[in-house]
Amino acid sequence: MFSAQMEYSDQVLEPFLSSETINFHYGKHHVGYANTLNSLIKETEFHKLPLEQIIIQSRSKHPKIFNNASQLFNHNFYWKCLKKACNAPSGKLLSLINKQFGSFDKFLEDYITFAGTMFGSGWSWLVEENGKLKFLNTSNAENPIGSDAHALCVIDLWEHAYYIDYRNNRADYISKIVTNCINWNFCESLLTI
Ligand SMILES: [Fe+2]
Repeated sequence: MFSAQMEYSDQVLEPFLSSETINFHYGKHHVGYANTLNSLIKETEFHKLPLEQIIIQSRSKHPKIFNNASQLFNHNFYWKCLKKACNAPSGKLLSLINKQFGSFDKFLEDYITFAGTMFGSGWSWLVEENGKLKFLNTSNAENPIGSDAHALCVIDLWEHAYYIDYRNNRADYISKIVTNCINWNFCESLLTI
């Protein structure tokens, strides 16, 4: 049985994300994906497979299972990427950022701009691919699982992630989260180089 993973209290990201947003986002959407997935894979070949394998094996063949498995993975990952009073990246991640973007501030600016180009519901990722950092936007439930891109960070761009706090101002949500709430230590721990 899969469960929705989030390891902090619903107030920890205020004022950038309210407890109301966290309650709805986690309690209704995220938990919903876990429950639906458990129900869909019961007594199927996907039962007992790791979540990443379910995503890879259901992609393009079983859209309902793929959508719920991917959304479960994406939300588990999203919460891990967020942290109040985040610190700046250091070590290898900072070296890569400085090498490719010139500075951490320019990197943040580019991530915010890139995420803002996403049309409709989806996710904005920071990935490592062939030793380089890249930004990647994916629609709906899609993610980099099964590709050469290795996920380091993600921002949820579905309306349910920001509408209670930011209404239709998605750009402000993206800017506030990327600037104030990313757990760069977690992102760096995922580097493979
Ligand atoms: Fe979400």
